[in-house]
Amino acid sequence: MLNRTFTPFPILTTERLTLRQLVSNDEQEIFALRTDSEINRYLDRPIANTIDDARNFINKVNENITKNNALYWAITFSGKSTLVGTICLFGFSDENGKCEIGYELLTNFQGQGIMTEAVEKVIDYAFNTIKVEKIEAYLHRDNQSSIKLLEKCSFRNSNEPDKTNPELICYHLTNSIDNLK
Ligand SMILES: CC(C)(COP(=O)(O)OP(=O)(O)OC[C@H]1O[C@@H](n2cnc3c(N)ncnc32)[C@H](O)[C@@H]1OP(=O)(O)O)[C@@H](O)C(=O)NCCC(=O)NCCS
Repeated sequence: MLNRTFTPFPILTTERLTLRQLVSNDEQEIFALRTDSEINRYLDRPIANTIDDARNFINKVNENITKNNALYWAITFSGKSTLVGTICLFGFSDENGKCEIGYELLTNFQGQGIMTEAVEKVIDYAFNTIKVEKIEAYLHRDNQSSIKLLEKCSFRNSNEPDKTNPELICYHLTNSIDNLK
């Protein structure tokens, strides 16, 4: 059984970053993330049309956290409240001891190692606190920056194309001693 109790919300910190819960004040940055064509290029999700879409999205995310269905962090630089990206764990399976990871960064904050730092912390939380055995990431096969990031964080290509969408590939990381190599 997974340890899925997300209240109080688990704030995580790294050398440069604080990962905190989304608040209604994040609506402009969430809107930017969900409208920017470059960020959404390989993501299969509806583009936000209005700031209300961003507001509704924040409410939905926080509702899912209350129900212990998913975790969704705002990535910020420690000491600053502005959201620069997001990272989430979702699709928990108690039966198979696994979950999925997703992430995105505003374009101005890419290329600085921010997401590598955030992903490493969230992996540690998923394995050592939630106690999942496996983390999966589904991504478009041409999403090179995401592939590079996952491989840097020791994820491996599962080599099992998604049955519903052949353009999607799956990467996975298991909680084993191999991860320390
Ligand atoms: C996927 C995504 C988060 C990767 O962002 P990113 O900025 O490349 O990742 P990081 O924050 O880890 O930064 C790594 C880069 O910073 C560089 N870097 C600079 N300073 C660094 C530091 N102190 N530490 C580590 N890396 C550093 C690295 O060399 C690397 O650049 P490179 O790819 O040119 O070699 C980003 O491309 C994105 O938001 N894409 C759109 C959303 C998306 O597709 N999400 C994935 C869904 S599956």
